[in-house]
Amino acid sequence: MCGIIGYIGMQKASTILIEGLKSLEYRGYDSVGIATLDHGRIRIRKNIGMVSEVADSLKFEEMEGTIGIGHTRWATHGVVSEENAHPHFGKSEKIAAVHNGVIENFAELREEMKDHRFRSETDSELIPHLIEEHLDGSFIDAFIKSLKKLEGSYAVVAVDAAEEKLYLARKNSPLVIGIGKGEMFCASDIPAMLKHTRQFVPLEEGDIAILTRESYQIFNHDGKTVIRKPITVKWSMEQAQKSGFPHFMLKEIHEQKHTVSESLAANVDKAKKLIENHERIDIVACGTSYHAGLMLAYLLSKKGKNAHAYIASDYPFIAKPDEKTLMVAISQSGETADILQAIKAKSSGKIAITNAVGSSIARICDATIYMNAGPEVGVAATKTFTAQLAIVFRLAYEKVPEPGNLIETMLSKEDEIRKIAEKLSKKEHAFFLARGSNVPIAYEGSLKFKEITYIHSEAYPAGELKHGTLSLVTEGTPVIALAPKDETTAKLLGNIKETKARGATVISLTNDANVKKESDYVIDIPVVDARLYPLALAIPLQLLAYHVSVLRGINPDRPRNLAKSVTVE
Ligand code: AGP
Repeated sequence: MCGIIGYIGMQKASTILIEGLKSLEYRGYDSVGIATLDHGRIRIRKNIGMVSEVADSLKFEEMEGTIGIGHTRWATHGVVSEENAHPHFGKSEKIAAVHNGVIENFAELREEMKDHRFRSETDSELIPHLIEEHLDGSFIDAFIKSLKKLEGSYAVVAVDAAEEKLYLARKNSPLVIGIGKGEMFCASDIPAMLKHTRQFVPLEEGDIAILTRESYQIFNHDGKTVIRKPITVKWSMEQAQKSGFPHFMLKEIHEQKHTVSESLAANVDKAKKLIENHERIDIVACGTSYHAGLMLAYLLSKKGKNAHAYIASDYPFIAKPDEKTLMVAISQSGETADILQAIKAKSSGKIAITNAVGSSIARICDATIYMNAGPEVGVAATKTFTAQLAIVFRLAYEKVPEPGNLIETMLSKEDEIRKIAEKLSKKEHAFFLARGSNVPIAYEGSLKFKEITYIHSEAYPAGELKHGTLSLVTEGTPVIALAPKDETTAKLLGNIKETKARGATVISLTNDANVKKESDYVIDIPVVDARLYPLALAIPLQLLAYHVSVLRGINPDRPRNLAKSVTVE
């Protein structure tokens, strides 16, 4: 949510900022702005709208200067408006800043600065004002003094008209430095800088940094230098772009033919040992990652562990780890605020499963398993979900059955899935049913479906149908049954018949002849080791959601009201 980009070098800053902001679009935003520093003067242009629209209408490209900062805002404090868009000036126009996060004590701090005229309703505008208020010596001293006053979360980049430098700080909101030759970048995430460099320094909690064209310096809140080693990222730009697919989501679905095997090869040794040595395992995650967490809890419980998956935002209210509890945090972004809050709890150990190298969650945990899925731009998690499943299998099974060409086979069903999508695209409701270890996949299929098609959908362990939901099944209600042949099929078949008897249109993902007989549409699942069925089922459900979304004229990459990285609680 919200995106930051900063540049200091020899190139025209506005061009680099626009490009960077475009690659941050997936994070979700409602307004855009940039500030550039040219001959000792800071100029800001900003407005509501998409990056291209705002950049064209306000002629960002005409802004001169080789130093600048840019921002995509996703409203939290204050309405969506030009005034509330970032960057913000301080009291004068000598300091400008962009901010991600939430300043919790902003009302009190504003109160203390009665002689300042605030132009917006945001908490963020306070930051350049505070810096200016403290500016009686060096900028860095004023910056540090201001940061000390802030309660809440922030990634901040500030520019001072009097200096050719960028000032950065992070607390509970991501910010990464990109190292170039004679130029430096900073951004909320790595893909925004990939075109220019592969060398990055992710800032850690409490880090404060100064960027010049030639160097970066990092300090703590006492102004003491801290050393952070750069990391080198192998992602190509092509990986981070669409590669000819109409949407990132479809590209990312197809990438699973490579990414699943990459994730299956992840290094899980340390985490596996930690799991072996603990009886109680609390898994915390949100959304799609929570569904992978449910799968982990299910498989570990089967092995006799006391394993539970919790929705991270509720964890602090319903559970408390003790000194013998192992916590597992699952998060593709590694920056989800609800998870960061949940894993603050004291426990015996913490494992992170994430796709983001150097992310906050990775740094907090004792053992980190990287998903190796490459950058995921679509808001809807696809390849990171199957990456999580692959890692869950590695953690739960002695030896994971070899998937062979299972993923390719499932992807090859896209044409028939598109035809089924045509039937579904005009519906208003859909139900996803499964039993046993396929239930988390039904939840995930339903989440993906509602997230990008805006059709109401629900998922149930099929046995629950007759305890309430069956009353909603009427003539033509779509019921999507996840029914590959396994120990649950006989009972699931009974549930399918219950819906059929009430007029449901049954779409089954199955390889069972009896289920096929009851179904209006079938997506054939190859016969494989039953432990791989969750992986096989996840892919057609992603394709189904994708095609229904496109048929309904929705951009699946940017569903309304949602953001890729949810960095506020
Ligand atoms: C998935 O399609 C969603 N966009 C969302 O549920 C997501 O999985 C959730 O916000 C958790 O994100 P994380 O994995 O980055 O922590």
